[in-house]
Amino acid sequence: MVRIDKSQLSSLRNASTQAIRDKAREIVATATEESTIFDEVAINKIPRFDGDELVLGHVLGRGGFCAVRELISIKMPADIDELPRQSSIKRLFCCREKTLNPAALLESDENDNAEIDSVTETTSEMGGIPREKLARYVSKTKKKYGTSKYVVKQVNDELQYHDKVAYLKAIVDIELEVKYMTSLNHPNILRIRGMSSPNPANGDTFIIFDRLKETLAKRMQDWLRRHRQCRGITGAVVGSKGKKEDLLVERLVAAHNIADALDYLHNRGIIFRDCKPDNIGFCGHGALKLFDFGLAREVHEKDRVKGTELYRLTGFTGAIRYMAPEVGLRKPYNFKADVYSWSQLMWYILELEPPLGVYTPQMFRERVFKRGTRPAVMDAWPNHMGDLMKKCWSPTVSERPDFKQVKETLGVVLLPYNNKKLLPNRFGEPCLPGDKECRNANASASDTSVMEACGHHKPHQHHHTHAIVNDDCCDGDEHAPVVLQQC
Ligand SMILES: Nc1ncnc2c1ncn2[C@@H]1O[C@H](COP(=O)(O)OP(=O)(O)O)[C@@H](O)[C@H]1O
Ligand SMILES: [Mg+2]
Repeated sequence: MVRIDKSQLSSLRNASTQAIRDKAREIVATATEESTIFDEVAINKIPRFDGDELVLGHVLGRGGFCAVRELISIKMPADIDELPRQSSIKRLFCCREKTLNPAALLESDENDNAEIDSVTETTSEMGGIPREKLARYVSKTKKKYGTSKYVVKQVNDELQYHDKVAYLKAIVDIELEVKYMTSLNHPNILRIRGMSSPNPANGDTFIIFDRLKETLAKRMQDWLRRHRQCRGITGAVVGSKGKKEDLLVERLVAAHNIADALDYLHNRGIIFRDCKPDNIGFCGHGALKLFDFGLAREVHEKDRVKGTELYRLTGFTGAIRYMAPEVGLRKPYNFKADVYSWSQLMWYILELEPPLGVYTPQMFRERVFKRGTRPAVMDAWPNHMGDLMKKCWSPTVSERPDFKQVKETLGVVLLPYNNKKLLPNRFGEPCLPGDKECRNANASASDTSVMEACGHHKPHQHHHTHAIVNDDCCDGDEHAPVVLQQC
């Protein structure tokens, strides 16, 4: 874990921009040396761009120190479409693959004479689409759908003039974010597509991502609208019971997806530390995606508090509403801090309003962190949910379940709602999370038994039959049929 002490902070306030960038590079290099999970091969495969090669559109969202903008196009040499054509055998092979991979459909745009390249690597392998190909995808998708399917997350460069420490933190966070996200491969974690050049002359630091359709924060509003429609006279008219149940299952599956992504991170020694509706989104296919790894950190043995399961890590980090008490009180903590955050998010998902919505930061400090106040457990929740939530937000860290247990309980909660649409098994039959068949079919990329069965020895993105849980998306046609890809 990299720390900047207070004496360093004061000298940084007077440092030049170049010195700040050098310091950021040093911090990231130390973190990289200490890491056991960063995949430098995959990181080196990510295509790099200079800031002046990107044509950006309007701002889609802002965070603490960053802005996320639509990526309109990537400027490439004029002869980009004149790249050598492939042999007819390879093209034939790729046409076969086109039927297996929705991403290939993108390549078959009738109005476009571009190559049908070997597209499998674009969606199923770690690492990147080559520079030119990404540039082509950006233009083609923009042309095809009218809106760009890619975004750029950029450090707010203004910071270097009025808050050098924040600027340093922002660069470190975004550089580490690249390293984490490139080294991870899970259907519910957003993919990186490109990043800034290693030593950009103009200092731009950015990441290119697939564009999300909306955040969970936005989706909650839609869920609330649909929930209200199921009540009263409107509900009676539209036949509310089935709709209400479908809506609940949709929300529980989203919660399960989040738990699965966090479980995957924890199994790799990473704490996410920023689980909240603004950092979760849905892609064009409907698949849930966790993003914003700016606060994610890999834990190291040297940070462990002797004789405990806890680590010395930066305190008071993340959003206060979702922050575990031990993090808020700057005590040692561990992966279970994410379990606490998930419980607050789950409360929001169940009640469709923020937990402890009227609380001020001061009230969180005094009541939640110190006195153990929690949101109410509701009678209307499905069986087992109340007990699960109470365990997840327990002030005693060791009483909180891990995400494997959370997923198991959610599977049991979902069992009575045998919704036929949500989770098809590997034969296309519906099943619920936790069912044996379903586990096989929907096993995440972390499931080594599935990887071995498929003969893959490195992390590999699996494609499954349904978008909601497992879709690897965003290269493909939003409306393209999602077809089972055999390993
Ligand atoms: N891939 C994306 N597609 C669309 N909007 C995005 C995407 N990534 C981020 N955003 C929007 O930008 C906001 C800030 O992005 P985020 O990565 O969370 O930055 P920060 O680290 O500054 O919080 C998000 O809450 C979301 O509204
Ligand atoms: Mg964010």
